[in-house]
Amino acid sequence: MTETTTISVSGDAGYDITIGRGILDRVGEALAPAVRKFLVVHPPTLTAQAGELRERLMADGSREVLLAEIPDAEAGKRIEVAAFCWQVMGKADFTRTDAVVGFGGGAVTDLAGFVAATWLRGIQVVQVPTTVLGMVDAAVGGKTGVNTAEGKNLVGAFWAPAHVVCDLALLDTLSRNEAVAGFAEVVKAGFIWHPEILDLIEADPERAVDPSTPEFRRSIELAIDMKARVVGEDFREGGLREVLNYGHTLGHAIEHAERYRWRHGAAVSVGMVFAAELSRLAGRLPDAVAQRHRDILDLLGLPTTYRPGGWPQLLATMQRDKKSRGGMLRFIVLDDIARPTVLQAPDESLLFAAYQEIAG
Ligand code: GLY
Repeated sequence: MTETTTISVSGDAGYDITIGRGILDRVGEALAPAVRKFLVVHPPTLTAQAGELRERLMADGSREVLLAEIPDAEAGKRIEVAAFCWQVMGKADFTRTDAVVGFGGGAVTDLAGFVAATWLRGIQVVQVPTTVLGMVDAAVGGKTGVNTAEGKNLVGAFWAPAHVVCDLALLDTLSRNEAVAGFAEVVKAGFIWHPEILDLIEADPERAVDPSTPEFRRSIELAIDMKARVVGEDFREGGLREVLNYGHTLGHAIEHAERYRWRHGAAVSVGMVFAAELSRLAGRLPDAVAQRHRDILDLLGLPTTYRPGGWPQLLATMQRDKKSRGGMLRFIVLDDIARPTVLQAPDESLLFAAYQEIAG
């Protein structure tokens, strides 16, 4: 086992994020000895690894560990799937002192967190993300939920995990494409908070996205550090947390236009170039920093342009989405690297001009 890094989230419901390689033994260690039963929620692709995790959790001989296999990705983020997990827990007499483990990508940890938040009005959850996106974003901030016919992520709860265990060895089998798509959120952390990430990518993009390198680990730790600080200060998204939406306002509209066949990271990549152009055209951001967005995302092979005719549909989707955010169209823009701020209700002509810069 290699050395571990611990990043703490402050606040009333503070918790630690442990990062290392080969550290699945740490799952369960932050929990009180009173926890006797675990429900490990995992996708079919991780059945073997979930079995190993179960063995480890049962090693001291005093715990019962149940496995709940759920559909992978968004198909698992449904109320019917949560109901299946509640049923398993009900049959096994899960009490308030028992716990859930979310073992998978962002959709799995979102669902597992929601199951934990709702069972007996809330039991502990340990998140064990198995994707880059999960480690740097989904599993860290305590946002949990399911999708409904009314839209994505409209039903859920803020529910802080008891512990997050990021075992980088779990990423060794990811394809380069998967690692790179998740890395878009790491690039975001570089632009809004920790520029060292940008330097690491520029120095050697291949090493930066290779999970076996120290450069990758450093970037992941910096991105997690950013997220931990932001959610430590603003768990319920009353202010600062909104900066995490950098690149996401347009990114979400692109995901919608593409019927969720684009990876989240690819949509956010285009969204970040758009936000940078918006910042530049609003007279806030130097040309060179907007160009740096394109250069870095190009180095990683992430998309930086979108269909020339796509604007009317994207604008309509963003207009509709804003209803859930106080009725105003809001974008996170940059005054400089690591200086994110909110641009509220920008002129449609400015938005269109920024779109022209990414149409291609
Ligand atoms: N993924 C954005 C947030 O956690 O607030």
